[in-house]
Amino acid sequence: MDIFNQDKNYIINTYKRFNLALTKGKGCLVADQDGKEYIDLTSGIGVNSLGFCNDDWCDAVCNQAKTLNHTSNLYYTLPQVDAAKKLVDKTDYSKVFFCNSGAEANECAIKIARKYSFDKYGQGRSTIITLTDSFHGRTMTTLTATGQDVFHNFFFPFAQGFKYCKANDGKMLADMLTDDVCAVMFEFVQGEGGVKSLDQKFIKDIFDLCKDKDILVIADEVQSGIGRTGRLLTSQVFDVLPDITTLAKGLGGGLPVGAVLVNDKTKDVMGYSHHGTTFGGNPIVCAGVNVVLDKVADENFLADVRAKGDFIRESIKDCKHVEEVTGLGLMVGIKVKDITAGEVVAKGIEKGVIMLTAKDRVRLLPPLNIDKDLLAKAIDTLKQILDE
Ligand SMILES: Cc1ncc(COP(=O)(O)O)c(C=O)c1O
Repeated sequence: MDIFNQDKNYIINTYKRFNLALTKGKGCLVADQDGKEYIDLTSGIGVNSLGFCNDDWCDAVCNQAKTLNHTSNLYYTLPQVDAAKKLVDKTDYSKVFFCNSGAEANECAIKIARKYSFDKYGQGRSTIITLTDSFHGRTMTTLTATGQDVFHNFFFPFAQGFKYCKANDGKMLADMLTDDVCAVMFEFVQGEGGVKSLDQKFIKDIFDLCKDKDILVIADEVQSGIGRTGRLLTSQVFDVLPDITTLAKGLGGGLPVGAVLVNDKTKDVMGYSHHGTTFGGNPIVCAGVNVVLDKVADENFLADVRAKGDFIRESIKDCKHVEEVTGLGLMVGIKVKDITAGEVVAKGIEKGVIMLTAKDRVRLLPPLNIDKDLLAKAIDTLKQILDE
């Protein structure tokens, strides 16, 4: 049986997959089962930050697999504390909790925010404000947190305690910050929502309003974090420090990991028995995290990410089918006209370049260390498609 039929018969059909089975990758090149090569502008939706099978990452992960593959979180392990120290040293955060995914990281952030408020103010202050067009995950609580009606279906009853503010509407936010609110949670660049950056003014409003009322600020950097926008964290681009930042995707370079970063104010909210995980911060995964952080949290590496982002934007902005180029760094959204995002992606596959969509836009999330010549070649192909 071929892979496509086998998938259809045995896998629950929740994905609209491309008709493409990938078998082998190196750097930013990946091959399908017929041996055709593609330049990767997806990095597995922002996960393979160092591309496919980076040598140093493979060595660290394989060595760790041969040394100590897993222990429970009841014991200390070096890869985990190293990864935490690196995250704290490279940011203004104080402590880290490791989990397995973006949704789990957000679940943990929500728990921290509610407990912070409970400890200080008692019950009745548990509402979390999120934004329209946000995406925070697929668990019941993070689905509810996600500010898109399309996700609030079928699975009733949904979790309580979320309200949605229109993105970039500071006046509406001010009106919504009533006495029952404990946190505001948002993405600096809404990824699944169409690669849209929040306005600088609205970000300032969030921080000013929340500070006045001791409401926590939670930044979901699951997609935008770990170098994607040209700084280790996108909060650094906007020069702010949310009380909690969540990470996942690019952090492990291809292994499942999430992390919750907490500042001085939130670092002691969770104590013994308040949270836990079987797999989170597993030694193999953290060996991967350590390599990613060693490479990405370097000013030259990050400057290169910004330069490659500028190159993409400059190259495509005047193409016939381009209405707007959005996002930051190597998180690129392309609003197209007279062609659909799906058509652009399909043509890319034909021509040997893989890309993503986000809502009605083309989305590019190349490996952060993508080779400049291969990037130029891929962007040439994209330009042809966008000018046809
Ligand atoms: C901003 C954001 N938050 C949370 C998630 C959920 O992450 P995961 O699929 O790892 O649970 C995603 C995934 O796309 C995301 O983009």
